[in-house]
Amino acid sequence: MDTGLEGKHIVITGASGGIGFETTKIFLAEGAKVTGTFNSSKGSLDSLKRSWPEHLHVIKVNQTEENSVRNLFEEANRVFGRVDVLVANAGIANPEGIAIQDMSLEQWENTLSVNLTGTFLCAKYFFANLERHDGESAALIMIGSTAGLFGEAWYADYSTTKAGMHGLLMSLKNEIVHLAPRGRVDLVNPGWTLTPMAEDALKDKDMVTRILQTIPLRKTATPEDIASAILFLASDKLAGHVSGQTINVAGGMEGRVLFTPGEIEFSDT
Ligand SMILES: NC(=O)c1ccc[n+]([C@@H]2O[C@H](COP(=O)([O-])OP(=O)(O)OC[C@H]3O[C@@H](n4cnc5c(N)ncnc54)[C@H](OP(=O)(O)O)[C@@H]3O)[C@@H](O)[C@H]2O)c1
Repeated sequence: MDTGLEGKHIVITGASGGIGFETTKIFLAEGAKVTGTFNSSKGSLDSLKRSWPEHLHVIKVNQTEENSVRNLFEEANRVFGRVDVLVANAGIANPEGIAIQDMSLEQWENTLSVNLTGTFLCAKYFFANLERHDGESAALIMIGSTAGLFGEAWYADYSTTKAGMHGLLMSLKNEIVHLAPRGRVDLVNPGWTLTPMAEDALKDKDMVTRILQTIPLRKTATPEDIASAILFLASDKLAGHVSGQTINVAGGMEGRVLFTPGEIEFSDT
């Protein structure tokens, strides 16, 4: 199937991570040019670059710093020209859940800074690039989480950043068309996905049992599941009339199991 992505320039943040790396590979296979970012470690990006030397550009970005994000888009424009699609994927979650009364202000601010302010900065410089370079179409795809839909006890910081993506989605879909008349903004909410971010939690059988009780497909996602939803939304041929939408890639997840049967107390009233 022709996705029309051949020759398009895609910036993928967090390309070194589980979902970002699969997304980078799937766009390269479509003939797209990809600028992929890492923050602390390149992961397998160097070996991917050896397979796609003309199509993949790798750059270190800390998306909490405005200069770093500005530099990302300047360099991306220099190397491959106008950025047609931004996949705002980079994000963090504290590996340990923490009750809000014990959560430090430092942790709260750091999660907001990377996930939400970082997405704002990437969207800001992506839109500035659209303002500088004429073009009919463009797409911003943000990566949220089912935590933004259902909340998640002990991860209030993370859930808040992902719920905040909805405000960006509904606002920016109406701004992008002033820069690119066929520009679109959409959100992908992964559920539990086997990547470095979630691998420790997914090693715990009790945890996985609890997770799968609300998922009709009774499985967690692979990074490929998420990458293909992103690819669909990025393609004008496949999703050219889809904007302002959220796709939950979570096996039909209904929400959270809050208590085990042993934790429920019955009373007469
Ligand atoms: N895995 C899941 O179950 C799941 C579920 C729902 C939503 N998500 C969301 O999916 C997205 C990707 O997650 P993942 O599972 O692929 O996680 P991951 O494997 O941990 O990858 C996270 C990526 O974000 C980058 N990053 C971290 N801090 C950054 C910063 N300050 N500036 C720029 N980049 C930074 C990391 O770069 P370095 O590694 O180089 O530091 C890495 O490339 C995230 O937004 C996450 O919240 C994941």
